[in-house]
Amino acid sequence: MKDGPPGLRGNLTNYGDSGFALFLRKAFIKGSGYTDDALDRTVVGIVDTGSGFNPCHGNMPQLIEAVKRGVMLAGGLPVEFPTISVHEAFSQPTSMFLRNLMSMDTEEMIRALPVDAVVLIGGCDKTVPAQLMGAASAGKPAIQLVTGSMLTGSHRGVRVGACTDCRAFWGRYRAEEVDDEEITEVNGRLVGSVGTCSVAGTASTMACVAEALGVSLPGSATPPAVTADRTRFAEMTGTRAVEMAHEGLTVDRILTRGAFENALRVLLALGGSTNGLVHLAAVAGRLGYSLDLDRFDAMSRETPVLVDLKPAGDHYMEDLHRAGGVPRLLQELRDLLNTDELTVTGRTLGEELDRAAAPFPQEVIRARTAPVYPAGGIAVLRGNLAPNGAIIKQAAADPGLMEHQGRAVVFEDSEDLARRIDDEDLDVTPEDVLVLRGIGPIGAPGMPEAGYIPIPRKLARRGVKDMVRVSDGRMSGTAAGTIVLHVSPESAAGGPLALVRDGDTIRLSVEERLIHLDVTEDELAARAQEAPRAEAAPRPGRGYRKLYVDNVNQAEYGCDFDFLRSETDRGAVPGAPTGPGAGGGGAHV
Ligand code: FES
Repeated sequence: MKDGPPGLRGNLTNYGDSGFALFLRKAFIKGSGYTDDALDRTVVGIVDTGSGFNPCHGNMPQLIEAVKRGVMLAGGLPVEFPTISVHEAFSQPTSMFLRNLMSMDTEEMIRALPVDAVVLIGGCDKTVPAQLMGAASAGKPAIQLVTGSMLTGSHRGVRVGACTDCRAFWGRYRAEEVDDEEITEVNGRLVGSVGTCSVAGTASTMACVAEALGVSLPGSATPPAVTADRTRFAEMTGTRAVEMAHEGLTVDRILTRGAFENALRVLLALGGSTNGLVHLAAVAGRLGYSLDLDRFDAMSRETPVLVDLKPAGDHYMEDLHRAGGVPRLLQELRDLLNTDELTVTGRTLGEELDRAAAPFPQEVIRARTAPVYPAGGIAVLRGNLAPNGAIIKQAAADPGLMEHQGRAVVFEDSEDLARRIDDEDLDVTPEDVLVLRGIGPIGAPGMPEAGYIPIPRKLARRGVKDMVRVSDGRMSGTAAGTIVLHVSPESAAGGPLALVRDGDTIRLSVEERLIHLDVTEDELAARAQEAPRAEAAPRPGRGYRKLYVDNVNQAEYGCDFDFLRSETDRGAVPGAPTGPGAGGGGAHV
């Protein structure tokens, strides 16, 4: 049980008279029709992130009802409460900008309310990270429930799903391979139901990563939003939350270094979203761990992509569920995992894998001997263009471009990109390297998913499908291409990306883990004197935007606010290698 009195007697409003505070609280809540018996029970808070602006959470009422049923079956009192809700397509300037606000809302409401345990219901990309960050800081027993993926749709006989196919169709529309009528028609086919994106985007990635962390029930990551499986998991989650409260199973006992290592493995084996790395760094930071990019890269070299999901593969989340979901993937990775880590069930990961269903023939989760991609989905790059690191989703890149040298074509920010990318007079060839700066955590602000720079229209019309692209921004997990992301430090923080000029030569070598600007140090120093970009950018003067820009840290720290990280330093994750399955050594960023 959490510190202090349990249930409704806990977390009293401070009037200077605790007896009166409890008397007043019970008087008010009895106005909602509760009896003293109900108010004496273990209280499970249910975080409601339903919103008319969040179709990814469109099944929230059904899930809350099922969680409540599960809580009451275990003798507890369920009480739901709202926090803000963040949907990718309804978040100006970006959902990432709002993630930290949602995490603060989540943390402070868990702290403020008299809940003995909490069920976090999230789904859309930034919501699960925000909830895990907040719950990690609040420190009470917490269990994650995801809303589940949407169903796929069908367009002219072809199966489609958000949002890899959204991007594919839009790319074909830009290349004038698809006309106005068809792009309007497919717009109504891409999202088959409520629920989260149906490919290995950030939502699916974080659902699987949460299960690997041990913070959600085994098997609960993959059932689609509108299935009976999803609702049953909601009921079981509610029941388990009551038991966790009685056991005092706080979230810090689950979110350990070993659990984060397991989650990073699954991120790699899934071919998951690059955003997953940023979010895991942020959640880990709330517990005092710092992401070691070089050890993560060493882990990547020995962890093949096993899940055949779009955008790196062919299938959708509902296929992954039918193939056995995350437990089946974890069985395949078992010798690379820390199986002694505790999960929300009260059992270790190893004990859960012993209880998992026996493998059966299927095509979505490959054996280690026949991977989708021989190494992990994400590689870490360094070089004079990214002294603190950058990443590339190598599993979704063009193999022919992974060793490439080309002439830089530079865009100052998203507005400059929008203005010029389709200009028929733009001096660009397929061999060039497209550079977009000013879209980092501070620069935009909110590190938009604009790193997926569109192929210039005049090249797209010629059939060019991919080019090397470099930015300090992010990319949706649903996108693919030879795209270098999260360049750190970002240009707005004075990173070398600010100093690149049109015509400079940039070299990418994924084999050497290198992103290099072929300009001398002296020349870069001279350019830095000429164009101090960081000071040139206007800073916001008030409100959340000021809080954000003044406090957000760089991608390798998760784009969290510095003041929200744990005050205790627990060291690096992955930890130092200790055995054949451990990651290699490397600098702690
Ligand atoms: Fe919500 Fe993709 S937009 S998960």
